[in-house]
Amino acid sequence: MTAAPVPQTDPRAGYLEQKAEIDAAIARVLASGQYILGPEVEGFEVAFAAWLGIGHAVGAGSGTDAIELAVRACGIGEGELVFTVSHTAVATVAAIERAGAVPVLVDIEPGGFTMDPEALTAALRDPPRGRPAAILPVHLYGEPADLAPIREVARHHGLRLIEDCAQSHGAAYRGRKTGSFGDIACFSFYPTKNLGALGDAGMTATDDRELAVALRELREYGWRERYVSARTGINTRLDPLQAAILAARLPHLTDDNARRRAIAARYDEGLRGLPLALPRRRAECSHVFHQYVIRSAERDRLREHLRGAQIGTGIHYPVPVHLQPAYRGRLGEFPAGLPETTRAMGEILSLPIFPQLGLDRAFRVIAEIRRFFE
Ligand SMILES: Cc1ncc(COP(=O)(O)O)c(C=O)c1O
Repeated sequence: MTAAPVPQTDPRAGYLEQKAEIDAAIARVLASGQYILGPEVEGFEVAFAAWLGIGHAVGAGSGTDAIELAVRACGIGEGELVFTVSHTAVATVAAIERAGAVPVLVDIEPGGFTMDPEALTAALRDPPRGRPAAILPVHLYGEPADLAPIREVARHHGLRLIEDCAQSHGAAYRGRKTGSFGDIACFSFYPTKNLGALGDAGMTATDDRELAVALRELREYGWRERYVSARTGINTRLDPLQAAILAARLPHLTDDNARRRAIAARYDEGLRGLPLALPRRRAECSHVFHQYVIRSAERDRLREHLRGAQIGTGIHYPVPVHLQPAYRGRLGEFPAGLPETTRAMGEILSLPIFPQLGLDRAFRVIAEIRRFFE
């Protein structure tokens, strides 16, 4: 008998596990007659802000939109520079450009996957033309970027700090949740995220009342009062159906993250000693394993082997933003070539991880990887 395929991720399993609560939340919204904003969105915004431990959360239509709103709410626009990474979802960079600003891409840390504070400092020493305005680190794969030095650089240069928390719901740095360090934090609730909706959804969060007002206006045509735009905004409202689903799921996030960590610990243990780089662990960081990413010089052959054993894997992401056709040659010169970013591109492999994966299936993944190297 052949074993059942192991998917890399499985948002449907997450839905089925919480089906009763989610179905009830959807039915409640359908019966309410309120299909744009309203109490469901407000209720989730309040719950999310309380969970994060900061003052204001403002829903958006997606994580990409959340980043665009954040950049614009900070008053950053045409020709101003936002320092971020190339090793991220293209959404991070696309959203900065959509706000009219110029993304400046810096390298990731050697041995890690998040913004290198030294590369950031070097980029600020010799920036491209334009006014440096913000730093936008990405807490990729569920691991916080090195926020202490990054925050110090932001303070030193008088820059805004915007956190991309699309993959880091619940991750902590020195005991504090990611998303509570910057001027504004941006979350995605794409269905496979640690806190996932059943469609597109996103959130911005801030402790600053004025920024919260700006975010609220910008997400709905710039309205201060209905039908009257105080500024030019867009339409990116959080859908009440998604808000109700997310409110039902938020209380499960801690447990879901614990199950992800348990799987990661099993992988750590089972893969030790193989010619692979395993995800690093840093004392000041609590990782939530949105992805469990290994590195191997034989990545493509290993991936093929796992595919043959019906084990799904992912590559997040196969091409860094600065090398993608839409961006290549357009986002500045990279004389040094972002060496760590380019090196990672050929080596990274995301193993199956999601709360419902279970330790038995993680064992099977480990056994197949060990078989490959034997
Ligand atoms: C790091 C990162 N930033 C931004 C986004 C954009 O989020 P969304 O897909 O909700 O627009 C994503 C998710 O796709 C992401 O992983």
